[in-house]
Amino acid sequence: MRVTVIGSNGQLGNDVVHAFSAQGHEVRALTHADIELSNLESAKSCLSSQPSHVVVNTAAMHHVENCEQDPQKAFAVNAIGARNLAVVTRDQGATLIHVSTDYVFDGKKREPYVESDAPLPLNVYGNSKLAGEYFVRTLNPKHFVLRTSALYGKNPCRAKGGLNFVDLMLKLARERGRVRVVDGELVSPTATADVARQIVVLSGCDAYGLYHATAEGSCSWYEFAREIFSAASIDVKLEVASPTEFPAKVPRPSYSVLENRELKKQGLSVFESWQAGLMKYLGKTETRLVSQTG
Ligand SMILES: NC(=O)c1ccc[n+]([C@@H]2O[C@H](COP(=O)([O-])OP(=O)(O)OC[C@H]3O[C@@H](n4cnc5c(N)ncnc54)[C@H](OP(=O)(O)O)[C@@H]3O)[C@@H](O)[C@H]2O)c1
Repeated sequence: MRVTVIGSNGQLGNDVVHAFSAQGHEVRALTHADIELSNLESAKSCLSSQPSHVVVNTAAMHHVENCEQDPQKAFAVNAIGARNLAVVTRDQGATLIHVSTDYVFDGKKREPYVESDAPLPLNVYGNSKLAGEYFVRTLNPKHFVLRTSALYGKNPCRAKGGLNFVDLMLKLARERGRVRVVDGELVSPTATADVARQIVVLSGCDAYGLYHATAEGSCSWYEFAREIFSAASIDVKLEVASPTEFPAKVPRPSYSVLENRELKKQGLSVFESWQAGLMKYLGKTETRLVSQTG
């Protein structure tokens, strides 16, 4: 298959490129320098110059505070950008695999959200991503919309910069020996390598639709940190931070655990527990660190 990956130098996009290439697919990797999602002409000319069977959109404006400050831009990228891709891929007869977020929910449910639950985003980011989902779902019948959560991968997240949560915890523990982490938000930490594998699996079938796509199970950020230190055998003083210590500037769901109900129903899920995903990531991270230090 010929596959185009948009946002290919991002945290998830990088793993998606590798996952398709590893399966022998012909991959066209596009960065922001190649395509501007919010501009229909850019999307049209870029995707028409070399049409592919599958387009994977991992690109987004997803820095939550920046989205809140610039709603027009957030909607231009996350909603109109998704619409542009849906229109162009539909006209080409291509499949669109579009990545969305757990932040479409308000977090009031307190048990894992399934695909049929009504979304109610609390912030601009979630609203703009939800609008993007609807455009994709209504405009290109050959679509997969994947909602994922709390990503970490070996390529840095471009929107957030710096280290992902796992690498940040390891760094802080080594530098300070004492780490304080909030305990009030429940998530399903998900390795981008696993989402990429899921995307490759879906690209090979026609079970189009909306899917939750996260690691199995859930934890608070504090519990995630505890598991990271335990798995990496790091002796560190881990403490619960008070909710006022790292106040959220923008409302976020305090519970955004997703159940991969539709993937499991179709027998298509590749996901393991979040602990298993972490172990695999740490294995890779150690290998990477060893190879970097020669
Ligand atoms: N990170 C998370 O924890 C998380 C959780 C749930 C869902 N998601 C979703 O997962 C997806 C991937 O996230 P990620 O962490 O891999 O993000 P990332 O590392 O920030 O990558 C995003 C990519 O999108 C590109 N991009 C941004 N605006 C663009 C535009 N207008 N036109 C074209 N390209 C543009 C960026 O390029 P530049 O940097 O050069 O602008 C970058 O390559 C996103 O859809 C996000 O909403 C992420």
